[in-house]
Amino acid sequence: MLTVSHLRSMKEKGEKIAMLTAYDYPSAKLAEQAGIDMLLVGDSLGMVVLGYPSTVQVTIDDMIHHGKAVARGADDTFLVVDMPFMSYHVSLEDSLNNAKRIFQETNAHALKVEGASPETIRLIERMTAAGIPVIAHLGLTPQSVNVLGGYRVQGKDRDTAQKILDEAKAVEKSGAAALVLECIPKELSEVITASLSIPTIGIGAGQACDGQVLVYHDVLQYGVDRLPKFVKSYLDGNEDVTGSLKQYIEEVKSFRFPSDDHSFTMNRDFLPVMQQ
Ligand code: KIV
Ligand code: NA
Repeated sequence: MLTVSHLRSMKEKGEKIAMLTAYDYPSAKLAEQAGIDMLLVGDSLGMVVLGYPSTVQVTIDDMIHHGKAVARGADDTFLVVDMPFMSYHVSLEDSLNNAKRIFQETNAHALKVEGASPETIRLIERMTAAGIPVIAHLGLTPQSVNVLGGYRVQGKDRDTAQKILDEAKAVEKSGAAALVLECIPKELSEVITASLSIPTIGIGAGQACDGQVLVYHDVLQYGVDRLPKFVKSYLDGNEDVTGSLKQYIEEVKSFRFPSDDHSFTMNRDFLPVMQQ
């Protein structure tokens, strides 16, 4: 299994890191069997599997519940769990206690936090000092969608590009083990990736990042209607799954399922006599 130090050496060797989200036992199991380097129990689970309007509704208990299931499905894979909305950005002590709870109860190998506010920088330092590796997350930070005013590409002009680079250096300095870059121009990812010794893992951030992460259900186009530009689907899950379900329904209605192949039999002599 990968460790934090492997991540750095993969960057040095130019070996790409392949990361995927997972939210439950079967998705984790299949991703591990496929050879994924790292799994993320993202708070995107709120939208992707719980049907919430954003990640803002996701609770610590949600993250722990799903984190444990993923850990059971992929116990040989580096596991990152998101700290959800307002589980940090509270007092430093409460944030650390929440981190402790999520880290201990899920058996995660690292936790992820969004942003680089002075409080978050301090939290990354304290978590790292306490032995909790932290993955930082910059660019589009979905927990702040209501402040950012929507899911938009970040860092397209000189000032915001400089700000994201400065934040990236700050999270590295504070001890972050890796950095997720979401929805920023590929040119900016290239500069950030070259400026850091920790790996960058991009989502909607181009080829230059040291690794890539995508949402499991987007990769399989399973239960998601609209895919962002940066997603590539490798399966048409909506079509394939709905097609299979239609076939099942059709076969039940037309008496074709279950056939004898899917039925148990017994000696008719042992049948109870039918009541009149
Ligand atoms: O929650 C999530 O899925 C994420 C990834 C998009 C990086 O944070
Ligand atoms: Na997330």
